[in-house]
Amino acid sequence: MSQGMGANVRSDDGGSGMADRSVDEQKALSRERFAPRASDYRESAPHAAGPDLDLLVAWLEPKPAEHALDVATGGGHVALALARTGADVDACDLTPEMLDAAAALLAANDCTAAFAVGEADALPYADASFDIVACRIAAHHFPDAPAFFAEVMRVLKPGGRFGFQDQTLPPEPTSAVFNDTFERVRDASHNQSYSKEGWITLIERAGLHVERHELVDKQLDFAEWTQRQGCDDACIGELCQMMDEAPAGMRRWLEPEWEDGELVAFRNRHLVVLARKP
Ligand SMILES: C[S@@+](CC[C@H](N)C(=O)[O-])C[C@H]1O[C@@H](n2cnc3c(N)ncnc32)[C@H](O)[C@@H]1O
Repeated sequence: MSQGMGANVRSDDGGSGMADRSVDEQKALSRERFAPRASDYRESAPHAAGPDLDLLVAWLEPKPAEHALDVATGGGHVALALARTGADVDACDLTPEMLDAAAALLAANDCTAAFAVGEADALPYADASFDIVACRIAAHHFPDAPAFFAEVMRVLKPGGRFGFQDQTLPPEPTSAVFNDTFERVRDASHNQSYSKEGWITLIERAGLHVERHELVDKQLDFAEWTQRQGCDDACIGELCQMMDEAPAGMRRWLEPEWEDGELVAFRNRHLVVLARKP
């Protein structure tokens, strides 16, 4: 049954307050957008590697035989990094095609994990069953981020670590709204991001204790970024025009690069967090 979007869209949480879909509509849209693009996300350079992924896994300090969960595993890059440390890995995602792509990535690297279809706000795992939970570059799709963080709290063992990463919004409210709108023009299943403070507030409200956090820049190639979501010429034109007319605060945040009048790249500022269940 569909539910309203609830408190997660309040702009005083550090979000843009823009999402206007039911929970079920948001999930259906994510599945629809990601199913045909599973192999593109597995091959995507900014997802496959980077100092952000290295930092996330280093902060989590996985140990052999520890039980780790990667939520919204996508192409499986966090699951693979965790499995390589000898951890016993579970990985879930809303989109079955993504799980197939992730399983193929791990198999090609002689690693294994247990894959399951699972929604971030209703994780299909028992209470207190994981030493580690990770979630990277996915929560901006979730229809109910507070419900997701509550689920992380539930499935972690006491003392368990949570590694979180996602994009952040610029500080000025107008630029923040513009930023999320820009993202939704490229990928309608983008629900909402939060500011650095907004994400941290939501994580702490769930009862997790944030121990470390850092902003890590990710440079995005505009052509690759639009191709990955199958943007047509009209969509690409709209995105270029939006960036050209964007509020100064958004341009300062994204630092767009232009060549001969063409948008070629911009920067995303990702928040990496290590939190612990008391
Ligand atoms: C960009 S990909 C994830 C990237 C991946 N974690 C990585 O580090 O490369 C976003 C993923 O979130 C999944 N997703 C979106 N909404 C979800 C939800 N409510 N519950 C679980 N997974 C969700 C999508 O199916 C998609 O695979």
